[in-house]
Amino acid sequence: MIERAAGEAGAIPLVKAPGDTGGVGPQVVRYSERPELWDAITGLSDEVWPEYNRHGATLNRYWGQLYERFPEWQFVLYDPGGQTVLAEGHTIPVAWDGTDAGLGPGIDATVAAAFGLRAAGRPPTAVSALAAEIPPRHQRRGLAKVMLQAMAGLAGDAGLAHLIAPVRPTLKDRYPTIPIDRYVRWTRPDGTPFDPWMRVHTQLGARIGPAIPRSLHIAGTVGDWESWTGMPFPETGDYVFPAGLATVHIDRDNDTGEYWEPNIWIIHQVSSRTPD
Ligand SMILES: CC(C)(COP(=O)(O)OP(=O)(O)OC[C@H]1O[C@@H](n2cnc3c(N)ncnc32)[C@H](O)[C@@H]1OP(=O)(O)O)[C@@H](O)C(=O)NCCC(=O)NCCS
Repeated sequence: MIERAAGEAGAIPLVKAPGDTGGVGPQVVRYSERPELWDAITGLSDEVWPEYNRHGATLNRYWGQLYERFPEWQFVLYDPGGQTVLAEGHTIPVAWDGTDAGLGPGIDATVAAAFGLRAAGRPPTAVSALAAEIPPRHQRRGLAKVMLQAMAGLAGDAGLAHLIAPVRPTLKDRYPTIPIDRYVRWTRPDGTPFDPWMRVHTQLGARIGPAIPRSLHIAGTVGDWESWTGMPFPETGDYVFPAGLATVHIDRDNDTGEYWEPNIWIIHQVSSRTPD
């Protein structure tokens, strides 16, 4: 079970309320509370995502609306001492029936369904993580765990008992030809997941769920893919490309390039403990 962020004895002390600067660690600040903090991170997406990854049609249809429709579910980790935004997190309330099958086919479907749920005025039953974005200068200092605890805090505040996450394994791009259902079963000698980002989740008590071979769809012309990846695709075929988690299928006759980003479902049960 993942504990709420506040009061947690993590690598970095975390305080929750924006006005509470009694701790020395980062605060979790929602977009609904201080939207002006986002002015300083307009280039964050460019820093954390490879270019190709920013062209998913379904995700892009909804992503810009996250701040308007779900402002209380977008947040940053803010260092009040340095007055610096350390990371950004995106989550969305969803309807989940508690089964593996009910987790759905991936992040595209999850976002679309969540907007549909809100439009229909129906209540959520869980929270889905959408993205944890830590810029390179703040990576490797234990913030990944803090991000997940912050997401759990948002879920707990809303009285929701589960945080589900279509996780993008960070080292999968080194093994693009290995099927995702095999990759996610790889372990280190100590039995923990091979992938470091998956490991952060399981260290917090999460359960690894079904692999998602087709989570995020990215399609474009051959020219689009050549420009996104910086490499030519001279003939029809499946190509390994920089930072790709799987291969892209190039069809020169139809002038298309199609990629499905694989993810892995990871499920956290959220503690309802009141913050200290
Ligand atoms: C994925 C991400 C959130 C992880 O955060 P981070 O600050 O890099 O990770 P942390 O410092 O908290 O370390 C977490 C673990 O990953 C390991 N790790 C982090 N980067 C690693 C790398 N490139 N290679 C190997 N291990 C790595 C750390 O050693 C640590 O493992 P441990 O607990 O077993 O020692 C961050 O790298 C990021 O935002 N990446 C770009 C966007 C992204 O891919 N987000 C996730 C998908 S939504």
